[in-house]
Amino acid sequence: MNIFALETSCDETSASVVSNGTKVKSVVISSQIKIHAKYFGVVPELASRAHIENINPVIVETLKKAGISSSDFSKKIDAIAVTVGPGLAGALLVGTIAAKAMASIYKKPLIPVNHLEGHLYSAFIENKSIKPPFLSVIISGGHTEIIIIEDFGRYKILGGTRDDAAGEAFDKAAKMLGLEYPGGPIIDTRAEKGNPTAINFTRPYLKGSWDFSFSGIKTALLNYLKANPAKTEQHLNDICASFRQAMAETLCFKAFEGAKKFDLKQIALGGGVSANSLIRSMFTQEGKKNKIKIFIPSLIYCTDNAAMIGCAAYLKQKKCGMNYNNLQLKSNPSLSLENW
Ligand code: KG4
Ligand code: ZN
Repeated sequence: MNIFALETSCDETSASVVSNGTKVKSVVISSQIKIHAKYFGVVPELASRAHIENINPVIVETLKKAGISSSDFSKKIDAIAVTVGPGLAGALLVGTIAAKAMASIYKKPLIPVNHLEGHLYSAFIENKSIKPPFLSVIISGGHTEIIIIEDFGRYKILGGTRDDAAGEAFDKAAKMLGLEYPGGPIIDTRAEKGNPTAINFTRPYLKGSWDFSFSGIKTALLNYLKANPAKTEQHLNDICASFRQAMAETLCFKAFEGAKKFDLKQIALGGGVSANSLIRSMFTQEGKKNKIKIFIPSLIYCTDNAAMIGCAAYLKQKKCGMNYNNLQLKSNPSLSLENW
């Protein structure tokens, strides 16, 4: 089953051709980072406009890379999948309208996909061996969720963030430090050259709850910077390393507490923050120690991409079939995770 997938929920225009949920025949991601960097965050109106400009070239390149011409699209593609939410309203509309048009022209079923489910199953693309139940930790610019996947499409949400998402905390910390947007990768790179024990930022474990709250670490950083402005490159790297350490330990602590409490032997990470090198190594080491299998997507599948949407769509249609009404498909910026 070949699925052509589109993802435009935030600031990446992406398309992909995915075979049987795991074989990525092509994936193209056009990032808008340069457009939004000077505003230190995604500007919704600019994102919509950039998606409109990018979507056609991205679709054409994706099909070309997969060796599919417009004349054999119908023969080679079985279904079209698209992110319908959550995300930015205008950005989502661009992807859904394009997907609807293609589904109508090529007379293909259209599978609506929740963006969170894309992140949730992104580790599956390279690891067919993941079998529910498992614990999923989604850490991105917009979300921090800890969810038990009881079965494909059966979710038990344990907790989420009470304030900033993990990626948002990294991005805001970078702004405080005078670094560029997005802050996550920059803090990560600088942290590699810094001392993680230089400053002991708070670890908000919120014991007794599965929720996260990163505003405390952010405030601790702000207070520290007021008293100790970063003077040298090394000092800046030490702050980055200490901040990253506090973030990673908090995420890791809660994930493993969750896995142990619910006797889950597998943890899958997803979302842009799972590209963080310390988070990747900390989860891997803790996994070995606790005999819990850790699944972390390759970097390309951590941040927003359409391959994860194709993967989630494949799993969804396998269980539920493809009885969707293409014309009634609607995007929903505040879509929540629903069971199927
Ligand atoms: O999943 P994603 O591409 O978009 C959302 O769905 O939000 O995640 C983007 C977020 C940004 O906040 C970015 O700073 C963060 O992922 N990020 C990282 C790293 N790479 C990206 N955070 C920490 N370390 C990284 N290496
Ligand atoms: Zn995302």
